[in-house]
Amino acid sequence: VYLPVNVSARLLTFLFTDIEGSTRLWEADADAMRASLARHDEILATACVDGDLFKHTGDGVCAAFDAPTAALRAAAAAQRALADEPWATADPIRVRMGVHTGEAEYRDGDYFGVALNRTARLMDAAHGGQVVVSASTGALVDPAADGVALRDLGEHRFKDLRERERVFEMGIDGLERAFPPLRSLETYATNLPVQLTSFVGRSAELAEVSALLGESRLVTLTGVGGVGKTRLAVQAAAETIDHYPDGVWLVELAPITDPGLVLGQAAAALGVREEPGRPLEDVLVDRLHDRTLLVVLDNCEHLIDEAAKLAERLLRAVPGLTLLATSREGLGIGGERLWQVPSLTRQGAQADAMSLFVERARMVRPGFRLDADTTDTVAAICARLDGIPLAIELAAARLRVFTVTQVAERLGDRFRLLTGGSRTALPRQRTLEATMDWSYDLLAEREQTLLRRLSVFAGGFTFDAAEEVCGGDPLDRAEVLDLLTHLIDTSLVTVDDTPRG
Ligand SMILES: Nc1ncnc2c1ncn2[C@@H]1O[C@H](COP(=O)(O)OP(=O)(O)O)[C@@H](O)[C@H]1O
Ligand SMILES: [Mg+2]
Repeated sequence: VYLPVNVSARLLTFLFTDIEGSTRLWEADADAMRASLARHDEILATACVDGDLFKHTGDGVCAAFDAPTAALRAAAAAQRALADEPWATADPIRVRMGVHTGEAEYRDGDYFGVALNRTARLMDAAHGGQVVVSASTGALVDPAADGVALRDLGEHRFKDLRERERVFEMGIDGLERAFPPLRSLETYATNLPVQLTSFVGRSAELAEVSALLGESRLVTLTGVGGVGKTRLAVQAAAETIDHYPDGVWLVELAPITDPGLVLGQAAAALGVREEPGRPLEDVLVDRLHDRTLLVVLDNCEHLIDEAAKLAERLLRAVPGLTLLATSREGLGIGGERLWQVPSLTRQGAQADAMSLFVERARMVRPGFRLDADTTDTVAAICARLDGIPLAIELAAARLRVFTVTQVAERLGDRFRLLTGGSRTALPRQRTLEATMDWSYDLLAEREQTLLRRLSVFAGGFTFDAAEEVCGGDPLDRAEVLDLLTHLIDTSLVTVDDTPRG
């Protein structure tokens, strides 16, 4: 079990920086860039003396400050020094910056929390030389008294897909400059929905999925219900939006049950309307054929044949189309790359599981934090729930009425405890129990029989044991392998290939 040391949550102001166009600068003159980068690092270190400069990212730094004004002063000082520097590079070094205030946890020399992610988003959207400041930082400074000039940039959505939020640009004396519009989600074509909760962790997974999308035109994220396929797909789509000039579009198949409606659902999501006298599929293909776009086909499992048919037709007719599907099992068409979404239990991912628990706990108990009394218990809860995000969210929601210790105790009977999910969620998502039922209902009768029998193994099993125990009327011993293979394909049984002693 993961045991974070030195856990402490505080309200901090973060300043993240990034050199604009650094790849180009490296390619143009690596020697000049190396020298300039060293000078850049010095300038930022000097500017951030009042804070904790805790990370170098290669193209920039991450720093934390106790006082919002200290972060803004550091950003202004850095921008002034960067502007004054006679750079050896072909073009001067220009640095984009984001400043945001939020609660974060500090452990082992690093900071954790969604505030860091938010700061990175603000920085991403800025142009070289620009300092973008969140509303939460803006609210904590008094422009007149603190001598800070904040210009209102209006409301924007960023790639973290949160609701529109007001952001500001800091004016810096002597460096007045007009910047192009902020590089926020507003500048892209997309129907990706606002996410009401924060996205947690998964940086390695996002990088892998993004890389796969560059290599393959059909990537299918598989895994058990609630493991985070949809959330990861939507986030990966947002992250890669720059690669698709005609946008990123989400087709949600979860709400429909009739295979005949798949095409209509896709067309509607892409803003394509029926035309009299022509099959909708032809209209759709016509409209898309010269576009470069990413379509997320979400929750294909219950309509797998129809989803596969549509995917195949569209991929053939639209060369600029990339598809990212989520499904318990693959679509089974040529060129498909399957990628299994891991739960939050691998080495290093436990910290994400705990962050997710804390984030969701705060929604029902503002101010909830990990401390000496709760850290171990929360770690135990996350481990008990196999690191499944949906289960963790449901458990955290119980803090409305229970203490963490009580939640941990009641997890002995986890399916009974987790019956109080959100009323607005789809019934399938309402509880872990419903998630499991739903997965189960999609199986053929003989697979259901095998799965029921496998449930006698509490802590996993070997194939030989499964054959021994589960083969028997109505199942043929010889058929157990086939059925088991299908249960593995549909993510209801996972293979653990670590050797057992
Ligand atoms: N990385 C994550 N950060 C925050 N919440 C997550 C994350 N992954 C999953 N969740 C949440 O867990 C729940 C289940 O995730 P979802 O993507 O719907 O699973 P699946 O599509 O595999 O059934 C959702 O409420 C989702 O928002
Ligand atoms: Mg899903």
